[in-house]
Amino acid sequence: MDDKIKLDISRVLQAAPWVEEEIEGARPGLAAAFEAVGAKREAGLLGFFDLPFNKEDAAAIKQTAEYIKDNFKNLVVIGIGGSALGNRMLHGALNHPRYNELPADKREGRPRVYVLDSIDSDRLKGLLDVMDLKVTAFNVITKSGGTVETMANFFVLKDMLEREAGPKRAAESIIATTDASRGSLLEIARQEGYRLFHIPGNVGGRYSVLSAVGLLSAAVSGIDIDELLLGAETGLRDCSASDPYQNPALMGAALHYIAYQRGKSISVVMPYSDALDYFGDWYCQLWAESLGKTKHINGTAVPVGQTPLKAIGARDQHSLLQLFLDGPDDKIFTLIEVEKRENSFIIPPGGVGNELQYLGGSTLEKLLASELEATESVLAKRGRMCLRISLPTLSPYTMGQLIFFYMLMTAYMGELLGINAFDQPAVEEGKKITRRLMGRQGD
Ligand code: PA5
Repeated sequence: MDDKIKLDISRVLQAAPWVEEEIEGARPGLAAAFEAVGAKREAGLLGFFDLPFNKEDAAAIKQTAEYIKDNFKNLVVIGIGGSALGNRMLHGALNHPRYNELPADKREGRPRVYVLDSIDSDRLKGLLDVMDLKVTAFNVITKSGGTVETMANFFVLKDMLEREAGPKRAAESIIATTDASRGSLLEIARQEGYRLFHIPGNVGGRYSVLSAVGLLSAAVSGIDIDELLLGAETGLRDCSASDPYQNPALMGAALHYIAYQRGKSISVVMPYSDALDYFGDWYCQLWAESLGKTKHINGTAVPVGQTPLKAIGARDQHSLLQLFLDGPDDKIFTLIEVEKRENSFIIPPGGVGNELQYLGGSTLEKLLASELEATESVLAKRGRMCLRISLPTLSPYTMGQLIFFYMLMTAYMGELLGINAFDQPAVEEGKKITRRLMGRQGD
């Protein structure tokens, strides 16, 4: 398949010629980062590398997706962070933009899909207002099995469902996705006889979208998860060289690291595609939670991390772009384009004497592509570092590549920064305080 995504760094080299030399200077560090990620993979610490090859799970997921399709009209994913953002990303990118609003026949009879990742009572009531619980399946996802937001939402819904549909139907309506060996959700699921999927122990939340975490709700809505996994496999293969010029994920990490060392503490990701809006949110979590860490250098605690920021083209050209161009030079940019869209709209001339007549006969896609090009040129003119990622089309195959590219780039960046990109100690601190405030004794 030649539907390959591409990383283009030519604008960076043109706008900031010093970067080429810095890449050369960074080669020993890049080689070490490449080796370190490889060694962690060999040691079985980075389970996300194995996900594209897990055909057994994919088959079981597809079977359960069919069961949900045949028996329910809605699916609600209950999760938070890495147990929800990937689901939103896949639906946003790969389903009809109004998927839930389409009549059932246009969804091929597939259930509507909702993601509940907040503990906002008004939002929950809003969701309950548009669905009949008796025909709703729930996929409760928590790796640890005990995240309070997820479990609190789950308890509320489980109780309602049992009262409305009866305990037997409730048990048939709930699918749990959690760790294989520990946690409250695992215990409850076993006790109640829920269908159960496991998240491998060596796959962290924000690296788990290609496990049952993201795949089940995707398959329910008809997304081809085999193609998605094949895309991820391709992404892995295309990023397997030790030379950064042959390994886009390593090159991406190199440029972000060089930028970070030059005081660019913000990494802007700007897809020129509404469908990639949630991709931006997924990226923000991946980059922030993986890289925002305290590093101990000679006994001194040094805060490390590059702040991710999502912008959407062309929308944010009328919001954030002024700051990007004339504001502080503290950012590195990645613009993402989708080369070919499924739909095209020709712009009519709009009337005689109209000074916008030059638009007439062109298309909305050409306008959007021109805006991307223009943003790239003005950023380059100011010497700002700007990368471009091109997706030939938006498909499960290209999304699989994009997801894998970003997970791998994050792993390399973690090594370059000298931190652990796979834990989140500070988040745990806040969780403990919440538990105490809610009445739990001890940790
Ligand atoms: O990336 C992570 O590890 C976190 O964002 C988790 O996904 C998030 O805290 C939810 O955790 P859990 O899946 O255990 O409920």
